[in-house]
Amino acid sequence: MVGGLTKVGVLASGRGSNLGALLEQQRLGALGGEVVVVLTNRPDAPVVEVASKYDVPLFTIADPRGQTDASVLLKGHGVELVVLAGYDRILASEFVREWEGRMINIHPSLLPAFGGGLHAVRDALAYGVKATGCTVHFVTEDVDAGPIISQAAVPVLPDDDEARLAKRIREKEHQLLPEAVRAYAEGRLTVVGRRVVIEGSA
Ligand code: GRF
Repeated sequence: MVGGLTKVGVLASGRGSNLGALLEQQRLGALGGEVVVVLTNRPDAPVVEVASKYDVPLFTIADPRGQTDASVLLKGHGVELVVLAGYDRILASEFVREWEGRMINIHPSLLPAFGGGLHAVRDALAYGVKATGCTVHFVTEDVDAGPIISQAAVPVLPDDDEARLAKRIREKEHQLLPEAVRAYAEGRLTVVGRRVVIEGSA
């Protein structure tokens, strides 16, 4: 930590709304961290515009599994916490091991339900659950199965389609992810086996 702010590196592939939520909290001085670099595997994705709007350096990585250039870029920017904010590729084991305990992910379901894929919202609707939500968790080699930091539930409404439900889930994500980054930055997260103890939370 330098000057009290944890240096955060974000990996993202899509719309970039979670990156935007992080950067907005940062702008308000409420993130406890500073997003110092964004890496993407999709240089045409809207997330590029989000990074540019907030003047955060963005790099396209040549190897989407993070085997070659991603760690070099993250370390070169002094990153202390990696946030996967809508990153759509499975990362190489070597990369995950290198950042284990220092890398978190946001997933659009209440894990362990509907983990392991890119269609969690569609799958939850198709299954007929009455509630789903989102989960922030530490990243381990088992996809979407690392220790859970926080979750928020979202009811499934009778007239929901995938887009409507995903939008309400994203609204929760935009609260949950910055809160998790802040708790990490403040040193309030302790992993005890599968449980994450958050100091200062009930
Ligand atoms: C989010 O729903 C997140 O849970 C999932 O990918 C989506 C990314 O959305 N992993 P955005 O690009 O942050 O808008």
